[in-house]
Amino acid sequence: MTRTARISLPTATYDIAIAPRALDEIGERLAYLFKSRRAFVVVDGNLPDALVENVLTRLDEAGFDAATSAIEAVETRKTIEVVSRLLHECALAGLDRGDPIIALGGGLTGDVAGFVAATYKRGCPIVQCPTSLLAMVDASVGGKTGVNLALPDGLRKNLVGSFHQPSLVLADLDALASLPDRQFRSGLGECLKHALISDAVDRDLWDWTASHMEHLLGRDANLLPQLIERGVNVKAHFVQSDEREQDTNSASSRMMLNLGHTFAHALEAIEGLTPADDLALREPAPRLLHGEAVAYGLLAAARAAHALGRLAESDARAIEAGVTSLGLPAHVQGPLDPARALSLMKHDKKAQGSRLRLVLPVALGRCEIVEAPDAGIVRDTIASIVSRD
Ligand SMILES: NC(=O)c1ccc[n+]([C@@H]2O[C@H](COP(=O)([O-])OP(=O)(O)OC[C@H]3O[C@@H](n4cnc5c(N)ncnc54)[C@H](O)[C@@H]3O)[C@@H](O)[C@H]2O)c1
Repeated sequence: MTRTARISLPTATYDIAIAPRALDEIGERLAYLFKSRRAFVVVDGNLPDALVENVLTRLDEAGFDAATSAIEAVETRKTIEVVSRLLHECALAGLDRGDPIIALGGGLTGDVAGFVAATYKRGCPIVQCPTSLLAMVDASVGGKTGVNLALPDGLRKNLVGSFHQPSLVLADLDALASLPDRQFRSGLGECLKHALISDAVDRDLWDWTASHMEHLLGRDANLLPQLIERGVNVKAHFVQSDEREQDTNSASSRMMLNLGHTFAHALEAIEGLTPADDLALREPAPRLLHGEAVAYGLLAAARAAHALGRLAESDARAIEAGVTSLGLPAHVQGPLDPARALSLMKHDKKAQGSRLRLVLPVALGRCEIVEAPDAGIVRDTIASIVSRD
């Protein structure tokens, strides 16, 4: 059964189709959506060959002449140089403005390919085919695209980018089969975030997610489609209320989707941070994954909200339990200097001038935007998530 969510904006309406083997339909769906029969596929280099070949075969069967280019899904390579290479390849392939670019991969591939589509010939269509849980539930929906910049004080996440809504999102649940467990758990970090801002859309989402976490971690095939659809509906609510994140104070501001992210982006900027056990040693990159950083960001946001008198202790504990139920230790280890992290947070692209602006939970499911919170409290909160070992 295909579950379909929909984003309706003044400038764009598109479906998010969630189903096992959803990618089998890519050829016929694109042939219906576009007059063009040429496409450019940006492929995450870690995907199994069979998955990529299936997509190319389906496109070919539907009459598409598709060029492909692989990219390396590593945050330090999510750069303007990769965008430049892909733009040159689009031009050399003779891509026209009406030809779709297809992003086949995790959130990083979607952000890069989306930015290429936003800028090539001043904008051509992008079709998002997310293959990670994080990308299915979050990154592929809502139109944010972009790349990181490496500055002397650390990696600045998504500092360059554009809003460019997809024409279609195809979330193929079978694509998750090859996703490593650590990446899957990272995606559950964003699912917890959605649950913590879900009150206006889906009041039961926090309790449901927290109570099913064990089965979700086991990738229960009955629960996963529901988790993704409900998460996408939460995201759709905020994207539809405030597409370009211009609302800085109401409960339906798109900024709510940034819960935990100001902390997370600072943690991601610092090289060498890992969850405080041997999880990271099994992966080549000595860096927190995005969803892991978000999960620690949720923990920090809950502690800061409690210390600022905005969140009950029992709710702060429930958020902490939610994060540790992902199998993440409650601490990070590595060179985390709280003062440096605070300084990075003050320069986050969401900050105004160097004034800190945070989204903080006030209940399980509800958040508020807090301007210029007490910096000492925020710094102490960051210190509380560093391992003392
Ligand atoms: N645009 C947005 O709204 C938005 C929202 C959230 C996150 N993001 C961005 O998304 C990125 C995080 O997304 P992500 O967690 O998917 O990371 P990712 O794209 O880096 O993928 C994580 C890892 O999983 C691999 N992978 C992906 N799908 C796979 C599969 N099916 N089988 C095997 N390996 C697979 C990738 O090659 C990579 O090694 C970050 O760059 C973040 O900034 C964007």
